[in-house]
Amino acid sequence: MTHLQTQPRSMMQSTYKPLTGQKAIVTGANSGIGRGVAVALARAGAEVVVNWRDGEDRTRETLEEITAEGGRAIAIRADVSREEDVQRLFQETCARFGTVDILVNNAGLQRDAKFEDLTLEQWNTVIGVNLTGQFLCAREAIREFKRRGVVQSVSRAAGKIIHMSSVHEVIPWAGHVNYAASKGGVMMLMKSLAQEVAPARIRVNSISPGAIRTPINTAAWGTPEAYESLMRLVPYKRIGEPDDIARAAVWLASDDSDYVTGTSLYVDGGMTLYPEFASGG
Ligand code: BGC
Repeated sequence: MTHLQTQPRSMMQSTYKPLTGQKAIVTGANSGIGRGVAVALARAGAEVVVNWRDGEDRTRETLEEITAEGGRAIAIRADVSREEDVQRLFQETCARFGTVDILVNNAGLQRDAKFEDLTLEQWNTVIGVNLTGQFLCAREAIREFKRRGVVQSVSRAAGKIIHMSSVHEVIPWAGHVNYAASKGGVMMLMKSLAQEVAPARIRVNSISPGAIRTPINTAAWGTPEAYESLMRLVPYKRIGEPDDIARAAVWLASDDSDYVTGTSLYVDGGMTLYPEFASGG
């Protein structure tokens, strides 16, 4: 197994379409995990809004990947940390698709620094996108879910929110305090919101990825040495692929998980299992 290995395409095709008739917004959907999730939701039958902020070419590629498989997707540019952008994102989505059934709160970034060097701008950028952005998008989604209510022919729930968190919602991360703080915040945002809106038949969950092969962490897997060092933290001994996360997202978005709310699903190859205790302690 090398650091360059990718998921076999044959595993990715599916004729099971549990999201038929549903409309989804995936934020930060033109690269990495977001892109994998957008493609998988479309493959599962959803019409998808590919939200993006930077990278027009990558956005076009994502749309082409979806439409090449017969899926339906549109792109809407919006900065999730800006309230007016988020409101426009939802207004345009409802104008084009009629409503929203699924929000995947995926957009996220890192601005790493030693704590004493961490600037207020780096702090605010990470909290603004990773935490405030998830709040703003979730709030618009909840408003639309409550306005519409349950449509039985579409889904048993009035709406589903999937927060993209991280193993760092529970694993402290030196040198990445802003990022870990944002994901710790996402965990309690998700749980408190889930508790509040469950009576309205709205489900709110998180996916907490471990090390996934995406542009955000190239330094962690881009060379054989880095990959080998990363594997010391992964009991399952392989890096995750965006499709590992995408499959979990399809399940959490579908009625197959209708009784699941307020949970954080760790998709991490065992990274949260304290791997250093496998021997010793
Ligand atoms: C971070 C990655 C990191 C992974 C595991 C993710 O949330 O964005 O940079 O490789 O956690 O530590």
